Amino acid sequence: MFTNKTNQKKKRILMVCLGNICRSPLAEGVLKSKLDSDRFIVDSAGTSNWHAGEKPDPRSIEVAKNHQIDISKQRARHFTIHDFENFDIIYVMDQDNYKNVLALASNEVDKQKVKQISSFSAQSVTAIPDPYYGNISDFEYVFQLLDEICDKIASELDEKSNH
Ligand code: 4NP
Repeated sequence: MFTNKTNQKKKRILMVCLGNICRSPLAEGVLKSKLDSDRFIVDSAGTSNWHAGEKPDPRSIEVAKNHQIDISKQRARHFTIHDFENFDIIYVMDQDNYKNVLALASNEVDKQKVKQISSFSAQSVTAIPDPYYGNISDFEYVFQLLDEICDKIASELDEKSNH
């Protein structure tokens, strides 16, 4: 399980936001589109269970589709402590997600896996803003921000996994 044709272990990456219907599904779709699925697994989850089982927000689906990415098959799920075992890197969208995920970490190894995704942006942003109460242009802004960030993350991960 989780190995590819050459039996190398796939790197497992988890995107986390609050509801797992707006930001992290986009982050999952965008990063997946930039990585080789034979070497990487990308998933997403929410720190709340409010939308568990639901499709991504229709506005996230629409924005992704406008950029040729299909996220419509994703279903929201609640982040659990098992995600620390099941993933190598956990990218969180904002400071609240960061606090809530860290609160579930059992040790230093778990804690080191958690990274604020905004820190990979070349722009001066401190979070991926929650677009839930916004409009389609807020979702497009989130997409653009994640696209820029995931370019950086994908090239860093690619470089590391090739050495
Ligand atoms: P997300 O956005 O964390 O990017 O999925 C939200 C989705 C739902 C809610 C808040 C934020 N909500 O309050 O239900």
